[in-house]
Amino acid sequence: MRSRIAVLASGGGSNLQAIIEHFERLGERRGGEIVFVASDRTTAGALERAARHNIPFGALATPARPDRLSLDEVIDRHRVDLIVLAGYLRLVPAPIVARFQGRIINVHPALLPSFGGTGMYGQRVHRAVIESGVRVTGVTAHFVDDEYDRGRIIAQWPVPVFGTDDVETLGARVLRVEHLVYPRVVDAVASGRTTLANCATGPSNAIVDVRPSFTLLPHEDSRLAENIDLALGC
Ligand code: GRF
Repeated sequence: MRSRIAVLASGGGSNLQAIIEHFERLGERRGGEIVFVASDRTTAGALERAARHNIPFGALATPARPDRLSLDEVIDRHRVDLIVLAGYLRLVPAPIVARFQGRIINVHPALLPSFGGTGMYGQRVHRAVIESGVRVTGVTAHFVDDEYDRGRIIAQWPVPVFGTDDVETLGARVLRVEHLVYPRVVDAVASGRTTLANCATGPSNAIVDVRPSFTLLPHEDSRLAENIDLALGC
């Protein structure tokens, strides 16, 4: 049985696009189906992408617009069993986090637990990374719990920081890796191969690969994708 996925996104939705395309590539082998795309912003590019792919979509209620759809309504109407956050800037309400334990995932553009937490999103993350002087940043996919960016880590992939980087160049390098890592994690969780329980058994399910030839040197997307697949056991 495929998981019924709701993707929540506040921005452009390039991660949503990467998930859609990965599922298209997997075809019948995909572990989930995106049944709804929701955003707190009516202008979010993610909604346009959903429309282009004939995926039902809608705007979520906010304190300023309580008349819109609530997340509870989205979940019930579309029989959602997995919530995928892809650049979603609001907190998921605590009762839903409690009800969806192990069934909400997020991607963060740094190696958590560093450079995460309240206020750490978008370019702010990459600016903090550059200012700190670290030479390696990366991508983290994790389960969501009631603390910002603190849920159990599913997968991480490192990305080098160069001395010449600014937030744009670094952000673009990290985003490219997000597009490779996150769709595979979404599929692994949607299909049941990765669960909160089997991630809890130890670090063996997390991808922490620091082999230089895979990560710190220029690489082809297809090669990197192959290695992520291997590490995730797909
Ligand atoms: C990504 O960097 C993601 O890690 C972060 O927000 C950004 C969203 O980008 N949570 P997009 O909307 O998927 O293009």
